[in-house]
Amino acid sequence: MAGYVVVGSQWGDEGKGKVVDLLSSHVDMVVRFQGGNNAGHTVVVDGKKTILHLLPSGILNKNSLCIIGPGVVINPFVLLQEIDTLEKGGLKCDHIRISDRAHLLMPYHVRLDELMEKKAGDLKLGTTKNGIGPCYADKYTRIGIRVCDLRDWDVFQEKLQHTLRIKNEEIVRLYDGEPFDYDEMVAQFAAVRERLLPMIIDATDKVNKALAENRMVLFEGAQANMLDINYGTYPYVTSSSPTAAGVCTGIGISPRLLDRIIGVVKAYSTRVGEGPFVTELLDETGESLRETGYEYGATTGRPRRCGWLDLPVVRQAVLINGLTDIALTKIDVLSGYEKLPVCVGYDINGKYYETVPASLKDYAAAKPVYKVFDGWQEDISQIRRFEDLPLNCRKYIRFIEEYCGTDVAMVSVSPEREGNIILKELI
Ligand code: GDP
Ligand code: IMO
Ligand code: MG
Repeated sequence: MAGYVVVGSQWGDEGKGKVVDLLSSHVDMVVRFQGGNNAGHTVVVDGKKTILHLLPSGILNKNSLCIIGPGVVINPFVLLQEIDTLEKGGLKCDHIRISDRAHLLMPYHVRLDELMEKKAGDLKLGTTKNGIGPCYADKYTRIGIRVCDLRDWDVFQEKLQHTLRIKNEEIVRLYDGEPFDYDEMVAQFAAVRERLLPMIIDATDKVNKALAENRMVLFEGAQANMLDINYGTYPYVTSSSPTAAGVCTGIGISPRLLDRIIGVVKAYSTRVGEGPFVTELLDETGESLRETGYEYGATTGRPRRCGWLDLPVVRQAVLINGLTDIALTKIDVLSGYEKLPVCVGYDINGKYYETVPASLKDYAAAKPVYKVFDGWQEDISQIRRFEDLPLNCRKYIRFIEEYCGTDVAMVSVSPEREGNIILKELI
């Protein structure tokens, strides 16, 4: 078995991009299995920052093939733009493949996402407005258009004609929006089709064959457990399964092929968009976490909501994903605090819980129960050995392991590729 998975364990933006980039030099393939360009994965190498939305974070490594899998929704215009940007920066992108089974995220999905959010008013979800929900909705109502349809131009046009009629009606009737012109959209796709065709492969076959040959394949999750369509804070979630199980359905491989499942955990909590957030700090401490951690959305630029570490949330990710290891990130951001509260449970209407409730009303009523740790003052971003960390920092890390029953295999102490303390080899 040589299937490795990296998933988010909170509300996204834990540092998955950094971890995937780091591990990618050891693998043959890096594969995205769900989500779309709602993701914003940051990789920093020699001070140069690259933010990836659709492309796997192994892209900077020429030796690993980067695959966008069947479970991903692909906005082809965003994909090509991302490739163009990297190529302008001097990185030749001939190691990208896209699955023939992936669904195309169309211009009308983006417009519908915007219109739906606008119409929802106070009930808006705070989506990235990139069309993710509407695209997955079409997939499941079975009027989606897939990447393989680009191969057969007649089929593509036929499908577009059918679906666009439905979508335009929705846009105009329900949301009073601007409809799309069919001929213009066909021309738009005709202009990019030739560039896309050589990238299209049967990704399910490719990945299964690689695994059968014992090649190393790294599956890169986008979003995170608390944004999972089934287990997140529904409806304040994304429209896919960002969990380890999502790898199997999102690529078409057996669960038996997954070897290590690495959950990326940020040393505190952040969330972008609406929805309950028990440990959120709406005061100057929240502000200072945002400034020190530079907590601004990599996709939308929105300020991220910040708060203390919520361990019931992390433990839910351990359970649902079957995490074998934790990659702990951004602990350097916690330097300088006198006290570091960590949420170990919730008080919900006078009852104590250590699990995340299904009911949003209950979760919104939850009060955090904190265990308070003593902080440390030192800058730890240059430390590379666990034993050199301040004692209180080590205690904080050891408590996370104890509470979650999972080893912290790696501690990230800076955005840079090299800024890590490795406790246990990950690959
Ligand atoms: P992702 O979506 O999970 O890939 O995470 P993002 O890239 O959206 O957000 C993580 C942010 O934290 C990025 O700006 C990273 O460069 C940065 N980052 C990652 N690890 C560390 C770390 O250990 N310390 C600090 N200070 N920043 C980090
Ligand atoms: P990465 O991969 C953080 C959030 C949005 C919104 C909700 C639904 O960088 O960790 P969507 O556009 O998916 O319909 O929005 O999910 N969201 C993310 N938050 N990181 C992400 O990705 C996210 N992708 C979506 O802010 O609350
Ligand atoms: Mg992100």
